Amino acid sequence: MLVAPINPSDKNQIEGVYPIKKASTQLEIKNYITQEAEKTEAYVGGNEGIGQVLAIGSSAPPALNGPISVGDYVMPMSTGSVGTWANAVHAHPSSLVVFRNRSNVTVEQLGSLKVNASTSYRMLRDIVQLNPGDYVIQNGANSGVGQVLIQLARNWGFKTINVIRDRPDFEQVKKELESLGADLVLSESELSNKETVQKVKQHIGTSQIKLGVNCVCGKSAVQMARYLSENGYFVTYGAMAKQPMAIPAALFIFKNITFKGYWVSKWYKETDPKSWFSMWDELCDMFSSNKLVEQKMHPIHVPSFNLPSDSPMVLTSEEQASFDHSVTEALSSGAKKSYFKFI
Ligand SMILES: NC(=O)c1ccc[n+]([C@@H]2O[C@H](COP(=O)([O-])OP(=O)(O)OC[C@H]3O[C@@H](n4cnc5c(N)ncnc54)[C@H](OP(=O)(O)O)[C@@H]3O)[C@@H](O)[C@H]2O)c1
Repeated sequence: MLVAPINPSDKNQIEGVYPIKKASTQLEIKNYITQEAEKTEAYVGGNEGIGQVLAIGSSAPPALNGPISVGDYVMPMSTGSVGTWANAVHAHPSSLVVFRNRSNVTVEQLGSLKVNASTSYRMLRDIVQLNPGDYVIQNGANSGVGQVLIQLARNWGFKTINVIRDRPDFEQVKKELESLGADLVLSESELSNKETVQKVKQHIGTSQIKLGVNCVCGKSAVQMARYLSENGYFVTYGAMAKQPMAIPAALFIFKNITFKGYWVSKWYKETDPKSWFSMWDELCDMFSSNKLVEQKMHPIHVPSFNLPSDSPMVLTSEEQASFDHSVTEALSSGAKKSYFKFI
């Protein structure tokens, strides 16, 4: 692999609370300081990333979108017991999508196309018909999904109201989101103020807030739903606060709000791959013309070793400790978004 993000769903998978489980297999775990190895039942995490083809079997069939060659960038669409958090994987071509002639697109951009960029794209396209000038309100607006959503909305002429958690560096995060194209940035606690209701009314004028995009759940998400215009849609794709939502009947009866969920894995399962490829072409075109920048992610550099030779990787105890520390931090709840960089 070249890069592989650590997504919240990967952590949920490790916690055993994600609906898609990874099957474990017999792995040999080696301590690179002592060179001792032990066999154990486990799996390698990671469901997203970009790799480069090192070798191809003599009777290998084509990839999902056509011929595959050594040196091609490839995105695994499904992984088995060895996920994308690996220097090298054996993959069947029928699980790979090839990206060619994308020299203006970075591996970080390609490596997070499948999950977050595509989820933002689909939620803006598939929940309700949005027209230029329409507003979308979202929480978790500084998340990976939120950052892409702001930019896609700007590119397509939609406006965004962006809710983030209260924080000491609120002004800094607000500026960052505005630089991506956010029209309004609010804190969670502001949502319940009458002044904020007036401020938003004044801001949108005669336009409508047609779509609410919910990354968080809990009370503040319900508060956000109150801002939707009549007949609006509210889509939940994440539950970062791990709290349920008690939705007031008035939002159903008097405002006729439609509440829906969204899961991009279901979309991939139910959709002709041609639609994936055309969406990714569009997203890659935006990346290469700088109309879209990738989600902010912190790199964890993975020590590399010579492939396909078997020469053993040897780490100093400091290198091993620093790597272990970075991984433990990145996997903890509340950690900033990180990704493994194998190059
Ligand atoms: N349904 C789908 O198809 C789909 C696809 C992609 C992602 N997702 C889900 O979308 C969510 C975001 O994913 P991501 O990769 O974009 O995440 P991310 O970049 O790691 O960002 C996490 C976001 O959640 C916020 N957050 C964390 N804990 C919170 C809490 N207790 N209350 C309120 N906000 C909290 C963070 O805000 P702070 O900066 O304030 O910590 C940040 O905005 C995850 O739940 C993920 O599983 C779903």
